[in-house]
Amino acid sequence: MAYLIGTDIGTSGTKTVLFDELGNTISSSTYEYEMLKPAIGWAEQDPNEWWRAVYQSINDVISQSGVPNSEIKGIGLSGQMHGAVMLDKHGDVLRNAIIWCDQRTTKECVEITEKVGKKRLIEITANPALTGFTASKILWIRNNEPAIYDKTDKILLPKDYIRYKLTGEFATEVSDGSGMQLMDITKRDWSDEVLEKLEIDKSLLGKMYESCEITGQITSEAAKLTKLKVGTIVAGGAGDQAALAVGNGIVRKGIVSSSIGTSGVMFAHADSIEIDLKGRVHTFCHAVPGAWHVMGVTQGAGLSLQWFRDQFCKDIISDADKKGIDPYIIMDQLAENIPIGSEGVIYLPYLMGERTPHLDPDAKGVFFGMSASHTRDHLIRAVLEGVIFSLKDSLEIMKDMGIQATEVRASGGGGKSPLWRQMQADVFNSDITTINSKEGGALGVAILAGVAKGIYPDVVSACDQIITVTNRQVSNASNQKQYEQYYQLYKKLYVSLKDDFKTVSSFLK
Ligand code: XUL
Repeated sequence: MAYLIGTDIGTSGTKTVLFDELGNTISSSTYEYEMLKPAIGWAEQDPNEWWRAVYQSINDVISQSGVPNSEIKGIGLSGQMHGAVMLDKHGDVLRNAIIWCDQRTTKECVEITEKVGKKRLIEITANPALTGFTASKILWIRNNEPAIYDKTDKILLPKDYIRYKLTGEFATEVSDGSGMQLMDITKRDWSDEVLEKLEIDKSLLGKMYESCEITGQITSEAAKLTKLKVGTIVAGGAGDQAALAVGNGIVRKGIVSSSIGTSGVMFAHADSIEIDLKGRVHTFCHAVPGAWHVMGVTQGAGLSLQWFRDQFCKDIISDADKKGIDPYIIMDQLAENIPIGSEGVIYLPYLMGERTPHLDPDAKGVFFGMSASHTRDHLIRAVLEGVIFSLKDSLEIMKDMGIQATEVRASGGGGKSPLWRQMQADVFNSDITTINSKEGGALGVAILAGVAKGIYPDVVSACDQIITVTNRQVSNASNQKQYEQYYQLYKKLYVSLKDDFKTVSSFLK
């Protein structure tokens, strides 16, 4: 039996899973770390912390399993997308990484649009300039920290920094590379035109691969820290959303996935490039060779519930701790007792600005409709509902683009909650399914590593062999009707508050 490892370098932590070639989980290890918020709307992390979490978690899964490292045939990397890791010529980190949900780069987005041209930018990169993407973060560092930029020898995405630590190679792959906004998405390679117009030297970037290609081998230094065998292959892997899609079997048209991690994402496979000309959803290369994907992103999905738990539910956290359960299980029970619509409280999940559908870094979180009779339980339910309303916004745009969704497959931490899944079924008016594996992105990149090593013939047949639907929740027509009226009001609230968000942001600058 061959074994494969998938490592997912997320925002709240890194999770590594050892699988057998049938996709069964053998052992798993997670290490958490902090997101630094040096100013309102800013978000950074220390890449050295990711590396510690990665080598410790790989070491753990090998030690716990007793599987000889000679049987581990490859490792795949999944990672939070869009972060900018700046390295000097010795490969040392020059500053904390500015990560995906950071919103400081409004000016740089204007600069990118002016230099490349609005239409040309969308033609080449398939997306408008966004604060979330890496290109604007690179320009921000060049504009505001020129001494750091001058010392920069390589710019890598989060998981590609880990690849460098594991293999010594500077490389990326098409799915995560797409989110840097420096690629020609049709050609699946760096865009010379965009790089020239933005005056970014191509030698600063890694070599481009397909997600299921071999990008390097474990070095002796990395082998000592991880217990992996020297020479074990490291596959391209994927940005976290494409990785999760592979791990959920979203590798052909028809099934859309909804994942609720820190961010929330609706993801659809596409056999050809499909672009929303208004830029409300992103089009990127998929981890399946020759395919692309469309996705809508809610910046603060799981992040909203985590924020609410940490700020207002300390008693629930300690109660859960005593019972040995996850605090979110108690929060779900409290929310379940509140009727649909949270008795008039509506939550807008814009704690870190918003991408889909508003593309607005100034958007802010809101609780609307509160009265003295509302309780904390109402607010918990409103947070759960608001996140799902925001995901529905993405689904609606996809439907507008002609993307069919016969089924929505739920995943991520939020996909574990039966209540949150039923809300999705009712709000989306669609069947919600879950599959036999809960490992999501880690499974996705282990599959990609298996393809790279020749254990599976290709990504689609590997998914067909490993992934099966195990649970289906259907939409309840009466619930759907009740949610719909709140959803319509939810949509109006952003329109009413848009200018006020800008005003309050100007107070904070
Ligand atoms: C996708 C995105 C997030 C991050 C963090 O565009 O920004 O999914 O990758 O999860």
